[in-house]
Amino acid sequence: MIPRLTLQKLVSPSFSLSEAEQLRQALTQTPKTIPPQYFYDDRGSQLFEQICLQPEYYLTNTEMQLLETVAPLLPQQTRACELVELGSGSSRKTNIILDAYQREGLPLRYTPIDISSSILELSAKHLLQNYPNLEVHGIVATYEQALAHLPPATLPCRLLYFLGSSLGNFNRHQCDVFFTQVADGLQGGDYFLLGIDLHKDPRILEAAYNDAQGVTAQFNLNILTHLNRRFGANFVPDRFRHVALYNQIEWQIEMYLESTIPQDVYIQGLDLRLHLEAGERILSEISRKFNLDQISQELTTKGFKPIATWQDQRGWFGLTLVQKC
Ligand code: AVI
Repeated sequence: MIPRLTLQKLVSPSFSLSEAEQLRQALTQTPKTIPPQYFYDDRGSQLFEQICLQPEYYLTNTEMQLLETVAPLLPQQTRACELVELGSGSSRKTNIILDAYQREGLPLRYTPIDISSSILELSAKHLLQNYPNLEVHGIVATYEQALAHLPPATLPCRLLYFLGSSLGNFNRHQCDVFFTQVADGLQGGDYFLLGIDLHKDPRILEAAYNDAQGVTAQFNLNILTHLNRRFGANFVPDRFRHVALYNQIEWQIEMYLESTIPQDVYIQGLDLRLHLEAGERILSEISRKFNLDQISQELTTKGFKPIATWQDQRGWFGLTLVQKC
């Protein structure tokens, strides 16, 4: 009998030289930065799930409601296809998509891709309980690794989806590279569905990244604990505070860890000593906000044909569906 759940791990638990070099570069530039992938250790992934439940963080609910309307249109467009989710996390939104394919009587094959193996396994097991005809092949990897190693499709095409406006965490250059990797990872006829957060009142944006419960602050500070464990650093999270501001020129939220005192930090794995002044900020994340037409247009330059775009009634969140030519 074919197992309904298979897992492929492309990331290693210890750090590689290129990761160490990337971190050294990030921490020694001005302003100091931390690559945002370090948010997502197991605790960070759990905290992110909690962020999605905060009332101020409108992104998740708005996108889920929009997906409820859009999902029934997907199987009509793609017919039988493999569902591949980049950054699957809890796979909550996948239920909506799987329901739509199940209602059409189409085969259910799902490839979640996530950097956290614990969250990936847990969510895959939940889905298998709820969908008796589902097959899951999980890939524990970075986006880059996974896109370069997508297993051959066993159904006529793929629907790759990247939701939650995770695209916003890439700068312009990274976004361009990512679109190229997506285009290279897919074959002619495959589809790409992208969920993006749209421009809006900065007060709504700043509230979303400064929730009253302080979950986003914990999420931000947890990146330091992760670096301590992974690279033998001695950051003391209590000596930093969470700051999130909207940069109206760059159209992005910027999240920082602000040093509350003058301090020195040693990162053993890099043999790097850092000095931070009181009030000095380490940039830990950008979250860009987009224009739907502009993004769809960018995708056409990478060899995709626009199929449809949708947005919610308030115009806060958008989805675009394109097909690889
Ligand atoms: C995953 N990503 C889309 C989230 C965002 O909104 O940029 C990460 C996040 N950071 C703070 N809150 C949520």
